[in-house]
Amino acid sequence: MKKIFAANWKLHKTPAETRAFFKSFKEVSAKATGELVFFPSAISLEAACDTVKGSNIHIGAQNCYAQNQGAFTGENSAQVVKELGGDYILIGHSERRQLFGETDGLIAEKVAMVQNLGLTPMLCIGETLQEREAAHTFRVLETQLLLGLAKADKSKPLVIAYEPVWAIGTGKVATPEQVAETHTDVHGILTKLGFTAPILYGGSVKADNAPTLIAQPHVSGFLVGGASLEVDSFIKIATV
Ligand code: PGA
Repeated sequence: MKKIFAANWKLHKTPAETRAFFKSFKEVSAKATGELVFFPSAISLEAACDTVKGSNIHIGAQNCYAQNQGAFTGENSAQVVKELGGDYILIGHSERRQLFGETDGLIAEKVAMVQNLGLTPMLCIGETLQEREAAHTFRVLETQLLLGLAKADKSKPLVIAYEPVWAIGTGKVATPEQVAETHTDVHGILTKLGFTAPILYGGSVKADNAPTLIAQPHVSGFLVGGASLEVDSFIKIATV
């Protein structure tokens, strides 16, 4: 399975900051040992797509609506992302689920629509601390995959990002044992459902924990938040 190193910039970096980042990142991007994907905020997408043209860097949006156009004030269209030159859409990030009330049903519609446009959905799944402590992790992930992929096409590209909610932005990275066990479970669930997809780990990934985590079974790369905002820290992760 190919490796993927993805950067989730959340609500950081203006268009000017985005251009400046890629100007210097392009000088080191050839060193990456896998595919590079950046998710800038929607308003910085055009600046990102323009600046990375002709390089090995892929761009995607952090979210889109389940329709391409219409009376949906404030939403973003995957069709526009495609026109700008993006080829990924992040779907169902835990911040979307928790802060913006996204349901598995809506997520399933987005996954299908993105695939139908010829873009690759990167579907995020993950359990809360409470769910892990109650030994519900497997059931939560199984449900998120079953429902989130309910309308997905098994023959089209798909990427899964496993991000334990308690590890996102907290500095509390999952242990290598937890990552090994959970990625093996996620791989098993996907196989049972008939899907083949790279499974990325996300949640406080840094240059110092990346080498151990990438060595775990069924870990095909990372989805990185905080450590993706600086060229130096992200390229260290993308060269493990
Ligand atoms: P983090 O964020 O690396 O800052 O924990 C990961 C994510 O939210 O995708």
